[in-house]
Amino acid sequence: MSWDPQILVFACNWCSYGGADAAGVSRFQYPPDVQIVRVMCSGRVDPGFVLRAFNKGADGVLVTGCHLGDCHYQDGNYKAEKRVEMLYTLLGQLGIQSERLGLEWISAAEGQRFANVITDFVGKIRRLGPANGGEGP
Ligand code: FES
Repeated sequence: MSWDPQILVFACNWCSYGGADAAGVSRFQYPPDVQIVRVMCSGRVDPGFVLRAFNKGADGVLVTGCHLGDCHYQDGNYKAEKRVEMLYTLLGQLGIQSERLGLEWISAAEGQRFANVITDFVGKIRRLGPANGGEGP
């Protein structure tokens, strides 16, 4: 059975989305299994967004933002870090493997890192298989 994972990537406007752009401009290859959602800051990613994504059938969710200390809103990525930590616990309680949620810091200059992070995350989700056992959302 062929299966293509549904993976959502939240990318902050100022850093990670720029990293995605840099990857594109430099033609760094990464798997096409991701849908990128641009947000102004990783701190804008409400835990409800992540839960909704899994509820709607996502197999993996990756939150990306500026490196710690580089957030354009000062501490948005520290908030994102705390929320993701809280979500790891919550997902476990909901029967969703916490490895399906990722958090990475990628600057606008790190196109190659963006491609590598996406490639690694997609590989991990492919190894885990469908989040709902292939039963549909
Ligand atoms: Fe990039 Fe806040 S602006 S993490």
